[in-house]
Amino acid sequence: MDRKDNMSSKEAPVSIPTSAGQLGIRDRQERRLIRNPRVPYSDSHRDPVGFFRRHWEMLAQTGQNRTQAVIGIDGLVSQEPVTRTVLRTSVSDNVLEDILSNNLKSDLEVAVDISEFTGETHPDWFIYMAKNAPNRDKPAVPIEQMIAETEGGFRPITSPRERVLEVVNKGGSFIDSFAQEQIPQILSLWQKAFGWTENEVVAFRDKLEADKQKPISKRDMWFSGVMMDGKIVTASMAECLPIRTLDGEDKKIWELTEWVAAPAYRDQHLMTATIDMLNAQVISGSREAENGTDPFIYAEVNHHTHAERVAHGAGLIIPERHIKGTIVNQILVKNVSVGNGDPGMPLRDFHFVYLPKAEINTAYTPNQITIMLNQINTR
Ligand SMILES: CC(C)(COP(=O)(O)OP(=O)(O)OC[C@H]1O[C@@H](n2cnc3c(N)ncnc32)[C@H](O)[C@@H]1OP(=O)(O)O)[C@@H](O)C(=O)NCCC(=O)NCCS
Repeated sequence: MDRKDNMSSKEAPVSIPTSAGQLGIRDRQERRLIRNPRVPYSDSHRDPVGFFRRHWEMLAQTGQNRTQAVIGIDGLVSQEPVTRTVLRTSVSDNVLEDILSNNLKSDLEVAVDISEFTGETHPDWFIYMAKNAPNRDKPAVPIEQMIAETEGGFRPITSPRERVLEVVNKGGSFIDSFAQEQIPQILSLWQKAFGWTENEVVAFRDKLEADKQKPISKRDMWFSGVMMDGKIVTASMAECLPIRTLDGEDKKIWELTEWVAAPAYRDQHLMTATIDMLNAQVISGSREAENGTDPFIYAEVNHHTHAERVAHGAGLIIPERHIKGTIVNQILVKNVSVGNGDPGMPLRDFHFVYLPKAEINTAYTPNQITIMLNQINTR
């Protein structure tokens, strides 16, 4: 979950802070360099393993030598070194086996087979490779502790539909957009947690409104929030990342991001219901746009605030850690900072979670989704 992405210059036009990001190599806030290549490292390359290795080593090296313009709280711009380089891409089984069996393994943070979403008959591994500078490579919490705390998962006992209806019964209402005069409410949620500025919230709203006018197949963002006592008390968004599958098909995958609940409204499962509703919107949109196809939905969730509990409540799980006889942590080390009322905004470790197809099949059937979406007041 990202804070903001637009720190290059005060004069730069305001764009929307994105988490999923765009294709290509991008400088991202908090001194990160991220590459989302359009073409995966498939076995159709003559030497896929060698090609991937050279590529990753080159990118990691680029990160180490790169600086980034950072605006301080005094408004002054300074050049700071990039301390985290990330490659997010699809790789074949062959390439993954090579990563796992040699010294690239320590750079592998996440691996999940997305073939159940792409319809391929062979594994299509969506991976994160990451290299942090020495001053950033120690997790805020020991990896073993984070794994132990999340081992076994937490299965939802309430279905998304039931939880959404419970919120409505308690006097809450769901929104998929917000009015101009509600911008300060969104700002107060996203500024403290993720550092958004007012201009960025305005730009987000403009983009969301424009997006709502488009045909579903062209939409690339969704918003979900809950209102209680006349104000917006939770917010979240989904944005798409276009990828190409190993079989060469263009697909949209979806990242759920910017989850925040106002402190006085936490621990009432309002955030979980907000994510249930975000899932419902993304799934329904994807089914409409792609002839019934279910989307790959994922999130990077803050261990510090145990956002993985919210994720589990909404059906998202940490991918299997035991892969090909070894352990993949499925944890992003010192990813970004999130404000939670504590001093400063320290860098946090994040779990990677996704919504399995089996969960979509049982908890987000067309009938359940219709009931849920009917509860949105702003539709
Ligand atoms: C993360 C956050 C959105 C959770 O909001 P919330 O209102 O507590 O969420 P919900 O009530 O819907 O669900 C919370 C779940 O987490 C659990 N939980 C909440 N705080 C917890 C904690 N400190 N330790 C362990 N579990 C916790 C609750 O018990 C519940 O689990 P359950 O369904 O098994 O009972 C909120 O803490 C927040 O806004 N934090 C600051 C911003 C942030 O970190 N956002 C996440 C970015 S990925």
